[in-house]
Amino acid sequence: MCGIVGYIGSKQAAPLIVSGLKRLEYRGYDSAGICCIAPDGLTIAKKAGRVVDLERAVDLHTLEGTVGVGHTRWATHGVPSDENAHPHTDHSGTIALVHNGIIENYLTIKKKLANAGYTFKSDTDSEVLAVFIGMLYETLHDLELSVRTALAEVEGTFGIVVLSTHEPDVVIAARRGSPLILGIGNGEYLVASDASAVISHTRQVVYLQENEMAILRRDGFSTKTIENVDTRSVVEEIAFELAQIERGGFEHFMLKEIFEQPITFRDGFRGRLRVEDGTVRLGGLASVAEKLRQAKRIIITACGTSWHAGLVGEYLIESLARVPVEVEYASEFRYRNPIISPDDVVIAISQSGETADTLAAIREAKLKGATVIGMVNVVGSTIARETDAGVYLHAGPEIGVASTKAFTSQLCVLTQFALYLGRMRALSAEQGMAIAEELVNIPEHITRILDNVEPIKAIAKKYSGASNFLYLGRGVNFPAALEGALKLKEISYIHAEGYPAAEMKHGPIALIDENMPVVFIAPKDEIYDKVRSNIEEVRARNGRVIAIADEDDDRIADVATHVIRIPRTLPMLTPILASIPLQLLAYFIAVERGCNVDMPRNLAKSVTVE
Ligand code: F6R
Repeated sequence: MCGIVGYIGSKQAAPLIVSGLKRLEYRGYDSAGICCIAPDGLTIAKKAGRVVDLERAVDLHTLEGTVGVGHTRWATHGVPSDENAHPHTDHSGTIALVHNGIIENYLTIKKKLANAGYTFKSDTDSEVLAVFIGMLYETLHDLELSVRTALAEVEGTFGIVVLSTHEPDVVIAARRGSPLILGIGNGEYLVASDASAVISHTRQVVYLQENEMAILRRDGFSTKTIENVDTRSVVEEIAFELAQIERGGFEHFMLKEIFEQPITFRDGFRGRLRVEDGTVRLGGLASVAEKLRQAKRIIITACGTSWHAGLVGEYLIESLARVPVEVEYASEFRYRNPIISPDDVVIAISQSGETADTLAAIREAKLKGATVIGMVNVVGSTIARETDAGVYLHAGPEIGVASTKAFTSQLCVLTQFALYLGRMRALSAEQGMAIAEELVNIPEHITRILDNVEPIKAIAKKYSGASNFLYLGRGVNFPAALEGALKLKEISYIHAEGYPAAEMKHGPIALIDENMPVVFIAPKDEIYDKVRSNIEEVRARNGRVIAIADEDDDRIADVATHVIRIPRTLPMLTPILASIPLQLLAYFIAVERGCNVDMPRNLAKSVTVE
């Protein structure tokens, strides 16, 4: 999604902003721009494409000024083009604005401005806001007041940064539904949409709250609501290290993050899991423990990969805690007026903690009286703040657009949540201990898979030219199949579908021929023989079968074309192990096809628009 970096201080702003923009590239974008306040007015450079394209076109080091703002745009209104790139200026060219989010009533405002004679250079909703602020400034002669007055009329979401030659020693930032962070330096301030853009300058940050704005000057800053009520800001420390957002010798962030999983998975249960009595200590849920004990129903809401984790969670919670669970796409949940009672507990799962659809779903659930729990990775994110209680994933920053380590950390947390809830209800200490003991073994199992990636690479090479893939699994492994298919399509652009294996004969079987690779997740669980039959059905139609199977399964090679081995674990934990080769398969296929693995086309890391 779009990225913002602003600066006010004593250093030259442009180099600092450009390096911040590069740190935000992982979020996904299609144009970039920068604006500085020079002694003779605003200097602006913007271009469709990458930050390097902008650097090639303009010597950004010649952009003079100690106050500036930069932006990476992910197109919503208008194609990616030089004109539509941010920053946008008002009609007089003295006020510049960058904007993340969507101004929903921009057409109404635009019409009003057009009737008053104002014209526009771009197709964006953001330029409308810049021109609107400029029009208000003509009568108000006060930048902060003009911004506030404009925002009072705006419907939709925004994280904005505004600067002006009229007040060259001020940077104004405001947010509603789109995150902004202030970086507190020594005689200098940064404002960014993501902590990764400021961490190389300062670790001290203030997370701007919903409907809050910040007025930054070289000698200090103040915060207030958009309605002009002063607020107290809390300075916090960024919770990760710079090295965690660097590639550290790996070719791609995605590969680095796949290989981090033995550590990130362990971090997810460290200090929480109590193997000796088969329980879990989840401090973040203490305030809602009684609510959880009484819960009649659990609703899990999320998007994409996090939604897949939710489907695994449904299986885990229902089998260990015997509480009915429903899993809802957050984007659908909000708009169908869901039936929620105060006895319901809603769990929102999100890596970024900023996904607009998930945020809207939790607001809806809270409005209807449910207790809302967050399972979030990014510390201090909006979802983490807006939920009643929560459990952090502790996966560390995830930079690769395709989610990998966050998914296994979500499964780690969901397993512990199911255990926690189960032990509050009917699950015996003995059953709890068996699960806890095996959870502790998972990092070692993941390491063993990662130690043997060559066979997966060879399979990837063989099938990298395929146009379609089918991923099949049953029970708890069906969501793992969905996740495998999603990984492949996201980064290799091969069409892939996930299905419950037995459902194949009700339609998708028509697709099977010698060109169709079919990935089966086939651990030796109680439905192993049924899955084997499904494999036979594919082979009978000349399909190519890639089976993810237990390492001690000596029968699978009779029916599968290729076998990828995973260590034997408890059936309910198989999706964790199965997802590792599926991530690697997608990764190696995408690399083989020459795709930009870390920044796949059209995708954004954090989807802050609905
Ligand atoms: C897939 C992926 C997306 C996200 C989805 C939800 O690799 O990254 O499908 O899972 O956009 O994002 P979060 O978890 O940040 O709410």
